[in-house]
Amino acid sequence: MIDRLRAKPGGDALAVTCGDMATTALPGRYRLVYVVFNSLMNLVSQDEQVTCVENAARHLTDDGVFVVENVVPDPMYALRRDRDGVDQYVDAEHIGPDGVTVEVGRFDRVTQRVDKCHIGLGGAGVRLDPLALRYVWPSELDLMARIAGLRLRDRWGGWAGEPFDGRSLRHVSVYARAERAG
Ligand SMILES: C[S@@+](CC[C@H](N)C(=O)[O-])C[C@H]1O[C@@H](n2cnc3c(N)ncnc32)[C@H](O)[C@@H]1O
Repeated sequence: MIDRLRAKPGGDALAVTCGDMATTALPGRYRLVYVVFNSLMNLVSQDEQVTCVENAARHLTDDGVFVVENVVPDPMYALRRDRDGVDQYVDAEHIGPDGVTVEVGRFDRVTQRVDKCHIGLGGAGVRLDPLALRYVWPSELDLMARIAGLRLRDRWGGWAGEPFDGRSLRHVSVYARAERAG
């Protein structure tokens, strides 16, 4: 990821620190801290996610904002229980003469952890692309922000400022210090 960043125009000029986003401490304070493209869900426990939000808050200037872009969890998981009571799914993503790609996943509704794997089956063999994540609800994220001394200032359904409502598949949420959120 850092190599990709460096390759972009101006990428050489940026100071980059590689570390765990939940715990890495930097000396500076910033007007913008962001965790986008569902990356908060890469922390697979609620504790780690709260720690990350607290860490983001610690790095904000007084007028700084913390921006999170994330999917809205799919409650349909709850309808996919198998006869053993496990929420799991198999999704045929691509079926063609060249091969097949399926995604299999399991959801634990107590921990909100998802273990999934993209599986490619083709002439070249089998390709496995596993991923573990933890779903976080927008309302749950708002509480995490409160724990960290932040408040929701704006929420949109996407980067173009789309309204956020019950049909939104994702949200872009902006948090500011509680005393500044307005
Ligand atoms: C969904 S990807 C987003 C990648 C990139 N930001 C983008 O927009 O294309 C999540 C990224 O977070 C990284 N990641 C996972 N856990 C992390 C952690 N605890 N601290 C920092 N980065 C982490 C993963 O390696 C991955 O590159």
